[in-house]
Amino acid sequence: MSPPLSQNPSTAARVLVTGGVVAFPTETVYGLGAHAEQPAAIARVFAIKGRPSGHPLIVHGADHDVLDRYARGAGRDAWRLAEAFWPGPLTLVVPRSGAVPDAVTGGRETVGLRVPDQPLALEMLRAVGAGVAAPSANVFGRTSPTTAAHVVSDLGDQVDLILDGGPCAVGVESTILDLSGDQPTILRAGGVSADAIEELLGRSVVRIARGPARAPGMLAAHYAPNALVVVTSSEQLAREYAAERATGRRIAVLTTGEFVTADPQSLVLRPVGDRPEDFAHDLYGLLRHADAAGAEVILVVPPPGEGIAAAVRDRLERAAAAGHGASSTAPLPLRPSGAP
Ligand code: TXA
Ligand code: MG
Repeated sequence: MSPPLSQNPSTAARVLVTGGVVAFPTETVYGLGAHAEQPAAIARVFAIKGRPSGHPLIVHGADHDVLDRYARGAGRDAWRLAEAFWPGPLTLVVPRSGAVPDAVTGGRETVGLRVPDQPLALEMLRAVGAGVAAPSANVFGRTSPTTAAHVVSDLGDQVDLILDGGPCAVGVESTILDLSGDQPTILRAGGVSADAIEELLGRSVVRIARGPARAPGMLAAHYAPNALVVVTSSEQLAREYAAERATGRRIAVLTTGEFVTADPQSLVLRPVGDRPEDFAHDLYGLLRHADAAGAEVILVVPPPGEGIAAAVRDRLERAAAAGHGASSTAPLPLRPSGAP
């Protein structure tokens, strides 16, 4: 049975206030939300997602009040960043206040906070009158949902309500900036670029390289479709394609560049436009489409550049790692990341 779909934020808020679990749209991806101050509801989110309980959730709020309520001594940087980038795809990791249950943070002393830039989500959050803790509304380790239909196919009847806000505008998850240490550190690339953050703060931020599990629950192998993902370049694409053809596997090619094949078994996927923003917007939908079409390997030429393009490459490299024997449920061993 499918869960009820609604476009009414007050209905969604009522379900949350009474301890229910609601999938809701944000500008990045759909979240699987529970009232942030109700540990029993939070426990259901972990159970539905199949997520290990030590992996912390982000608390979403309607406005800057989330900093007052859920952070303890957030500091000037946090307030300036919130002022500049909220509502928007930036999560700030700050010391947590007593209002945040252990269930949300996996017992750690920091909490991730953000104000999403999505009108239905903001209305829902205002009506709840408290934070909503939410991971992405996918099965643990898989690609995040960017439409209500993705949520239905991943989580089926396990949620109490899906608030349908249409396709997500950004398409990849928020930038996560850790402000709890000596130096601001980007734990995950996303819609707000490192350059924009540095410019605002007037100093450099640490950009942790992909690979080690740098945030709890942030794995080198993640964000994966069923098909094997192979990240390539426009120069290498023809060669990689020929090599895959020789194995007889069903191939999907994801690129904004020219690509023509005579093989009726191969699928060529294109974002709706040429900009990195278009690539991000369509990424997860296209990976899901490749799975649904039975592709066994997806050759991807990711967009070049910084900002959202870097976020797209980060997700694709992790999806590729998931298919190369790296465990998608256990963090890779920690090793020096090369970051200062
Ligand atoms: O765009 C997004 O951030 C979406 C939407 C729904 O807001 N949410 C999302 O949540 O991607 P999730 O749980 O799939 O990924 C959040 C990541 C986790 O991998 C976790 O490691 C990190 O945020 N995180 C959350 N709280 C943290 C904390 N206190 N310290 C370090 N990392 C934290
Ligand atoms: Mg996630």
